[in-house]
Amino acid sequence: MAAITRPAPAKINLALDILGPRPDGYHEMRMVMQTVSLCDTVTLEEAEAGFTLRTEGDFSPLEGETLEQRAAEAFFRELGRPCPPLAVTLEKRTPAYAGLGGGSADVAALLRLLRQRYAPDLPTEALERAGLAVGSDMPFCVRGGTALAEGRGEVLTNLPPLPPCWIVICKPDFDLSTGEMFARARRRIFQNRPDIEGMVRALEGGSLAGVAKRLFNVFEEVLPPERREEIQGIKTALRCCGALNAAMSGSGPAVFGLFETEGEASSAAESLGTWCGQTFLARPVERLDGTEV
Ligand code: C5P
Repeated sequence: MAAITRPAPAKINLALDILGPRPDGYHEMRMVMQTVSLCDTVTLEEAEAGFTLRTEGDFSPLEGETLEQRAAEAFFRELGRPCPPLAVTLEKRTPAYAGLGGGSADVAALLRLLRQRYAPDLPTEALERAGLAVGSDMPFCVRGGTALAEGRGEVLTNLPPLPPCWIVICKPDFDLSTGEMFARARRRIFQNRPDIEGMVRALEGGSLAGVAKRLFNVFEEVLPPERREEIQGIKTALRCCGALNAAMSGSGPAVFGLFETEGEASSAAESLGTWCGQTFLARPVERLDGTEV
């Protein structure tokens, strides 16, 4: 079979609230999620035997059962068929462990490739179910676009698209572990919370300024003190460069700013790029569950 390839776009959290711990060890969430054009590329081929995953640039296959393999097995379980031998190649651009859902985006792109090749009529709900077997944010990464995510992150309500804008994403030179950030949030009662209803109304009204005004992520309150200043510094720099507003994405440490014009966004990306680890210019992306993406 010929190799097939798809983009694996990252996500940002326009708003992120943690409602509290759940009996299953996860947290009850309320988030407004947005797919962005910063992406990896995923290629699927049939192989001679087994399941191999390699990352372009680093040709050594990853050890052990990967999320990609678990997702492929969950996909074929949905079809009631054994998983054939497969080879998957990732071309990475999205920084990992950054709060941008990079790893989940790759798995979601693989699920879309598997549907394209083996079951074009499989409904998106079945693909989202296969994704949930490997991570809470997988259903959103499969669906894409703009959505309210509740529960563990898997209960999705589609929202109107983010009005056209430019997004500058900055990944500072340190990583934060999602598990640790949730542990830091576990016994916290957050005083300041995002106005998610207001953000939904702003999306319904097509108001970029209304969305920007309400960017908010409660994880910023539980950042280790030595990191809080750095994140705050990037947010301030983005605003000084003309961003309508800025916030951290997911469990961090990536920070993004929303801009009205390409000119302002690209000069902001240029000036932040001189001191902030990795900097990217991106645009909002609409839903991904059609066959065209
Ligand atoms: O679902 P996923 O494997 O991506 O989650 C990674 C970790 O993040 C979980 O092990 C859990 O500690 C934490 N988590 C959580 N509540 C959520 C999602 C993730 O506590 N809603």
